[in-house]
Amino acid sequence: MEIAADASSQQYAVFGHPIAHSWSPFIHGLFARQTGRLMTYRKVDIPPEAFATRAAEFFREGGVGANITAPHKSAALHLANELTPRAERAGAVNTLAKQRTGILGDNTDGAGLVRDLQENLGLSLAGRRVLILGAGGATRGILAPLLALDLNSITIANRTAERAQHLAGSFGDLGSVRGCGLGDIDVVPFDLIINATSAGIDNDVPAVPRRAFGSQSFCYDLGYSKSTTPFTRMAQRLGCRRVSQGWGMLVEQAAESFYIWQGVRPDTASVIAVLTAE
Ligand code: ATR
Repeated sequence: MEIAADASSQQYAVFGHPIAHSWSPFIHGLFARQTGRLMTYRKVDIPPEAFATRAAEFFREGGVGANITAPHKSAALHLANELTPRAERAGAVNTLAKQRTGILGDNTDGAGLVRDLQENLGLSLAGRRVLILGAGGATRGILAPLLALDLNSITIANRTAERAQHLAGSFGDLGSVRGCGLGDIDVVPFDLIINATSAGIDNDVPAVPRRAFGSQSFCYDLGYSKSTTPFTRMAQRLGCRRVSQGWGMLVEQAAESFYIWQGVRPDTASVIAVLTAE
């Protein structure tokens, strides 16, 4: 859904490459309708070499807010005059907001995940042992908000062990976090297993030992699909009773962006219901 442009409507966009399949205009369209705001929200496909110029142009020409998705989240750091601590820590920006003093860069991904886990899925995370699969940008974005909870520990397991170790080292001041190769996990089974790899894009799953999964493990895929994802299918096959795709996180991170722009928090449950029923 794209809300019709109107002289008085504020201009928003999501920048990515590719961007055709983004759900953001649909989600923000529902938020705008729900809260009675007039906004135009477009998908804009920008190749990496043109990002800085085109995004700056958008704001110069009156744009007031933007979401940033792959592969521009790191580049967007440099577009902002000011960063929130969580964007700085993530080393990535998924939300830009025009302010009187310039452009603010924020990152709402981690907050969106935590909200989905705690509020929508009803998980109590205190004292839990968490396994994160993958050590790329997606993991970097969620580590600090997870470490702010009273977890037992986080293990980051990655195909390339060094990347996981390096990431764990740079977040070690925030809590108990270690990095290792996919085959080197120790404490098992885990209470919460988060798939933050991009393996699903190739219809693949990370080669993690099955001993990581117990019947009580909650398995969460940051990816989402109209049917099941390869990771949620694998978790169910291994006997995990509770699995979830990342639709809730997608809506919650959008709601957090909407709040930054509009100062009002939209209802997310109704939007998640629409998306998961589609
Ligand atoms: P993103 O921003 O989505 O995290 P990224 O920074 O390219 O993207 O990171 C992708 C992550 O998925 C990496 O951790 C990658 O593992 P490597 O660091 O070893 O490359 C992981 N990944 C991608 N495909 C995978 C696969 N088929 N099996 C296991 N891990 C995979």
